[in-house]
Amino acid sequence: MFKSPRGTRDFYPEEMRVRNWLFDNFKAAAKSFGFEEYDAPILETEELYIRKQGEEITQQLYNFEDKGGRKVTLRPEMTPSLARMVLAKANTLPMPLKWYSIPQCWRYERMQRGRLREHYQWNMDIWGSEGAEAEVELLCAMVNFFQRIGIDSNQVGIKVNNRKLLQNVLESAGINEDQFAPVCIIIDKIDKIPKEVVEEQLTELGLNSETIKLIQSTLALKDLKSLNEVLGEDNPALNELNQVWTLAKSYGITEWLEFDASVVRGLAYYTGTVFEAFDRNGTLRAICGGGRYDSLLSTFGGADIPACGFGFGDVVIMELLSDLDLIPELPSGIDDIVFAFNEDLRDAAMQVANRLRSNGRSVDLILEERKMKWVFKHAERSQAKTLVMITPNEWEQGKVRIKNLENKTEIDLDLEEL
Ligand code: HAM
Repeated sequence: MFKSPRGTRDFYPEEMRVRNWLFDNFKAAAKSFGFEEYDAPILETEELYIRKQGEEITQQLYNFEDKGGRKVTLRPEMTPSLARMVLAKANTLPMPLKWYSIPQCWRYERMQRGRLREHYQWNMDIWGSEGAEAEVELLCAMVNFFQRIGIDSNQVGIKVNNRKLLQNVLESAGINEDQFAPVCIIIDKIDKIPKEVVEEQLTELGLNSETIKLIQSTLALKDLKSLNEVLGEDNPALNELNQVWTLAKSYGITEWLEFDASVVRGLAYYTGTVFEAFDRNGTLRAICGGGRYDSLLSTFGGADIPACGFGFGDVVIMELLSDLDLIPELPSGIDDIVFAFNEDLRDAAMQVANRLRSNGRSVDLILEERKMKWVFKHAERSQAKTLVMITPNEWEQGKVRIKNLENKTEIDLDLEEL
């Protein structure tokens, strides 16, 4: 028997209903914040992901040479494709732009709870806006989505930090600018690998024990007040963080937010605010993550445009919804089952189905000759609302028999009344 490749999923109709429900909520949240949908190919040129800072994502590519000898890969994330699209039309696109997408992404990951080798990732990005207003718009859209699916701030929080904080610390310790992204990538793994290994990797990058200690004490800062005491006022990282909180207050979402200096995210391109949502029980991996990336276009040979965004996978959130028992019972979407009592009435049943469909109803016409018992069972299984029976005597009088499957009542209706 064939199996789907390890780390990939089949979606049977029942699972597809849940996936569509989740995606509909992603889309509804995006639309309520005025975001427009875009898409790009799942196959991209490998070059798009060549970044030398040692990110995991660039080592997990599903890459190969195509028949023309071109190096291509399944996309591991959407941001570089989006950057490519923005760069191609940078002069004509009206800024700021707010775009969303739900791409399938592929990463050759070590499999664990919440991490597969393919996932769908709701992406929300704002380009051409440099203030914290953009980040807060994204945070609020994220909260809006959580609320839509029945999750509140007691169940989920969003950790917020600013990479400039660490940049500051490294600059003050005389660390070369090029080392900044690799340091962030190592720090991002702090929760996942032993402390000594992190220290070892930082030492390999050329950081001395004093700088490592300084980094560790900075990462331990858990509130903005102590940050203020360490950095003093008028520090860019602190100012931006304060602005996020001030604006978040206007949107009424501060109970969702937590400052956490240890959150830096594992991608090289983030330059400022970074954030990730987490489950407050602490049993799952990050639910989603993102931040500001103002310098991505220059790495593609273009002029930079300020940008920020997030990626929100479908895997961890489904784990959380299942833990919280919040996955709704979803109907099949079938309105009517149309059934002919005998084969002589098939033509009549088809006419009835046509009429119902032209009225916008979802109709399941029974294709073979079946016993009544089977039809009732089938109707129950498919959660249809009504059973439309074409019976000889009624049809002769131009009528059909309708059984309401919710309250079990029956009526006869003229064909024209359907
Ligand atoms: P990321 O942190 O690599 O960011 O991924 C974002 C989210 O995608 C994760 O928090 C998680 O929900 C989901 N995800 C990632 N890898 C997997 C996996 N192997 N299995 C299941 N879910 C996964 C990015 O990809 C950035 N491009 C996001 C972004 C958009 N930043 C700015 N705009």
